[in-house]
Amino acid sequence: MSHPFHTNEQGHLVVGGVDTIDLTKKYGTPLFVYDVSLIRKNARAFVNTFKKAGVRAQVAYASKAFSSIAMLQVAKQENLSLDVVSQGELYTALQAGFPVDRIHLHGNNKSFEELSMAVQHNIGCIVLDNFYEIELLSEILEKHDKTMDVLLRVTPGIEAHTHDYILTGNEDSKFGFDLANGQAEQAFEMLQEIDSIHVIGLHCHIGSQIFETDGFVMAVRRLFETLGEWKQAYGYRSQVLNLGGGFGIRYTAEDEPLPLGGYVDALVEEVQKQVELYGMEFPEIWIEPGRAIVGNTAVTLYRTGSIKDIPGVRKYVSVDGGMTDNLRPALYQAKYDAVIANKADAALTEKVSIAGKCCESGDMLIWDMEVPEVEYGDILAVFSTGAYGYSMSNHYNRFPKAAVVFAEQGEDQLVIQRESYEDLTRNDLPYDIKERV
Ligand code: LLP
Repeated sequence: MSHPFHTNEQGHLVVGGVDTIDLTKKYGTPLFVYDVSLIRKNARAFVNTFKKAGVRAQVAYASKAFSSIAMLQVAKQENLSLDVVSQGELYTALQAGFPVDRIHLHGNNKSFEELSMAVQHNIGCIVLDNFYEIELLSEILEKHDKTMDVLLRVTPGIEAHTHDYILTGNEDSKFGFDLANGQAEQAFEMLQEIDSIHVIGLHCHIGSQIFETDGFVMAVRRLFETLGEWKQAYGYRSQVLNLGGGFGIRYTAEDEPLPLGGYVDALVEEVQKQVELYGMEFPEIWIEPGRAIVGNTAVTLYRTGSIKDIPGVRKYVSVDGGMTDNLRPALYQAKYDAVIANKADAALTEKVSIAGKCCESGDMLIWDMEVPEVEYGDILAVFSTGAYGYSMSNHYNRFPKAAVVFAEQGEDQLVIQRESYEDLTRNDLPYDIKERV
């Protein structure tokens, strides 16, 4: 099974203890439904594995995967830290009452306003990405007469993708300071001269949806090589090592991720080895999982509409959403599993492809899936849409954004309202039409 949900005696899919068909009647479609107990389970798998290993750690939820006030309230309750990459994500965190000292700001082009907001709200850490930011941040700190803890984001020359990783001498990436060409060291030297900025450690992020631990292990080695050199040259001692996110999840039965604790165990084991090798103190370890915290915890519910059967070619079943609420198939050819939620136990008798409703041939959610006989008005539940689904949703064709519901232990709560047409045109202003010759 590619998903963690079950069906009830009516043969309906149940998420968070709630019948998904009842939810569609109450809230309409398309609808994201999160099982909050699964979010907690994923968060605790990371947190508890560090605890068990006796390692000081911060598990920073990468809120780009799914940011909303309700989501960040849960993250706060689970004692997670938070990775934000924009003023909008920071604003949401502040609105959710997230503890500022556990917020970390990322981004490859942080603006003056973003950095000022972070400084004004005394967030815990800024992950510095480039030389321009060093200048901006030191100016802002001087203006506010404050200091700031930072991590240096470095590019270790390891690029990981699901099963493969690529080793490059100089990484061709818009993110971070390159280790191989000396820019990371140059930044570090510059920062030694700036009293208001404290470099508490290094950060790297090697990719996303990674199933193997080799890439992470190599990144740890590479960071320690650097820390070893900086210890020799500058007597530097890193308090924190942030190894980013990227831990893979199951979208379809073909995906075989490790249990979440397995990634942590591999990281801790390698850090332990390196600490001994270089005679260093064990640093605090930070990670930034996004997808692995929320990805498998949500389904998207759609209502089926037109069914186009092209004999001998394909049967298209269209749903009332698509690339507006899930851009990943169109953008990355991402694969998903789904079920007809009102016939979840029925025998699979035909093969169909699921089309979105945008004016674009590429708006296909799933190719060739086995289903029971599909009828107009059935409810399709697409699994593992909790990460980079709602957060990447858009207004193409002027479809209003979907609603989001949290379900936990048999209770459901609307946490993001469905957009209205008024919302869609809220920022539009009429053009003052004049006669023009
Ligand atoms: N930390 C940093 C610095 C990152 O850039 C990212 C993701 C994460 C953490 C969280 O990665 P995760 O654990 O979620 O894999 N839109 C794409 C994913 C883009 C990820 C960008 N950075 C997708 O839908 O697959």
